[in-house]
Amino acid sequence: MFVSVIIPAAGFGERMGATINKQFLLLDGKPILVHTLERFQLCEAVDEIIVATQKSSFPLIEEITRTFSLTKVKPPVEGGQRRQDSIFNAMNTIDEKADIISVHDAVRPFVHMKEITQSIETAKFYGASVVAVRAKDTMKRATTDGRVQETLNRSALWSVQTPQTFQRKILFDAYANAEKEHISATDDSFLVEQLGISPIIVEGSYENIKITTPDDLLMAELLLKRFVP
Ligand code: C5P
Repeated sequence: MFVSVIIPAAGFGERMGATINKQFLLLDGKPILVHTLERFQLCEAVDEIIVATQKSSFPLIEEITRTFSLTKVKPPVEGGQRRQDSIFNAMNTIDEKADIISVHDAVRPFVHMKEITQSIETAKFYGASVVAVRAKDTMKRATTDGRVQETLNRSALWSVQTPQTFQRKILFDAYANAEKEHISATDDSFLVEQLGISPIIVEGSYENIKITTPDDLLMAELLLKRFVP
C-alpha cells in the first residue's frame, strides 16, 4: 500500500486578521504547518506528503522541509482559488503508485497518530473515511435572518474534521464529477458523497481543532502544553 497525504495550505486566513497566512503563524516558536507536517512525517503508514500553497511561499516550504528534516515532503504545488482547487492541483502530482490519498488541513496540528492510521485503514477497506466528533451542542437550523426553523436530532450529528481519506480512484472520480457538475464543497467527503458513496466515520478527538480565528490560536497554545501525539 502506498499512501499520499495532501496538505492544503493555500488559504489566505482572512478570518485570522494576520498579515501572514495562518498556517505560517508560530506556535511555540514553530510554524503551525510544521507541527502538522511532523504528525504525518512520523506516521509509518505515510509514504509522501504534498503541500499546496501560494507560489510566493514555495521557498518557505523548501526551507521548512530542510530545517525540520521532513523527508517525506515533496516539492510544493501551487494552490488554487478554492480549497478544492488546491487539492486538485496536488492530486495531479501524487506518486503513480499511490492507492490511498489522505487530505488534511494545514491548520489542524493536533491530529493524533491513531486518527491518521485509523482513517487510512478504514479507507483501505471501505473506500472512504472521515474523522469526526459527536456534536456537543444542540444544533438548530435557522433562516438567514436568524429565525429558528428546526431543532436537529443531536445524536445523529457529527462535526467533521480532517483527515479524510480515500481510495485513489474514488477521489479522482469525485473530483471529475465535481468538475463536470460544477459542484463546490468545503470538504472532500461531500464530493465523494455525490457519487453515492458513504464515507465511514472514524471517531476523533475534540483537540483536533482547525486554527481559524485569533481565539483558536490562544486555544492552540494551551492545547500544545498537554498534547500527546
Ligand atoms: O478556509 P478553510 O478554513 O476551510 O481552510 C482549510 C484549509 O484549506 C487550510 O489549511 C487552508 O490553507 C486550505 N486552503 C487552500 N486553498 C484555498 C483555501 C483554503 O489550500 N484556496
